[in-house]
Amino acid sequence: MKRIGVLTSGGDGPGLNPCIRAVTRTAVSHGLEVLGIKRGYTGLIDNDVMPLDARTVGGILSRGGTILGTARSAEFRTPQGQREALRNLNRNSLDGLVVIGGNGSLTGASVLYEQGFPVVGVPATIDNDVGGTDIAIGVDTALNTILDAIDKIKDTASSHQRAFLIEVMGRDSGYLALMGGVAGGAELILVPEVETPLETVAQILVNAYIRGKAHCIVVIAEGYKPGTRAVVAYLEEHKEELGFEVRVTVLGHVQRGGAPSAFDRLLATRLGAAAVMELKEGRAGNVVGLVGNEIKITPLAEVLAKPKYFDMSLYELSKLMEK
Ligand code: F6P
Repeated sequence: MKRIGVLTSGGDGPGLNPCIRAVTRTAVSHGLEVLGIKRGYTGLIDNDVMPLDARTVGGILSRGGTILGTARSAEFRTPQGQREALRNLNRNSLDGLVVIGGNGSLTGASVLYEQGFPVVGVPATIDNDVGGTDIAIGVDTALNTILDAIDKIKDTASSHQRAFLIEVMGRDSGYLALMGGVAGGAELILVPEVETPLETVAQILVNAYIRGKAHCIVVIAEGYKPGTRAVVAYLEEHKEELGFEVRVTVLGHVQRGGAPSAFDRLLATRLGAAAVMELKEGRAGNVVGLVGNEIKITPLAEVLAKPKYFDMSLYELSKLMEK
């Protein structure tokens, strides 16, 4: 093994740069050359690459985003796209590849591995819906961004005696809403994994008002059905009965940026280094994750077959706190 590639793919998040840095510096320390592939699988198909060394990755530990850029590549899902990607991996004389990203990116990694190329995956997505790890890179920083927003919104909500709907990311996953809601002291958490009728949402607002609360904070995952707009429309229709006035804040992509937290920098450094050591020692087709406080290696196929489960016990705990 002489030369490895590294790419970041899918939705970005804080901690990608520390991971690129760890991959590069670990590889260099073990006598390997490193090629950065820009814009995820799109850049791999276009052969858009940049050499990385210990100095190129200097000063990026504290930076959000990814110096390599990222993309969601539709072309890589086609047989032609995959053929071009494999051709470029060989053209650049790469002996292995580290893929940093979420479930979509790891599905791409598994396609390359099934076609005989040595790949190791590193879970990075603020959604925290990747198996094989307790927590993915980016989650901790995103949660802290959410908490900062909830705390600030609570201040203004209390001053005005208002209810606030705060929408957080998570197309299919209620993880950020659940964790953010519990840690931020929300009166109600709405997630895709648990059905909560609109009448119940309205009733919780009314009950909070009757109990004399100064505010009512509802944290909504982007993927909650029937969606934030439907909640707003329903509450608007019933505004005479609510007590609270209602306002909405959609946090959006602010959750994906910013300097990575201490936890994310450490996680990214540990996982990036572990991914290189897997390749170096001749093992591939796996995901490196953090389970307990140990680095754990899980086959890509297993990670992709078993998506993460929603923590129902924490959801039940949140219900006890919504008083
Ligand atoms: O998968 C991460 C994520 O941030 C989701 O929570 C969100 O639904 C999605 O990406 C948004 O993607 P994009 O930035 O491509 O609009």
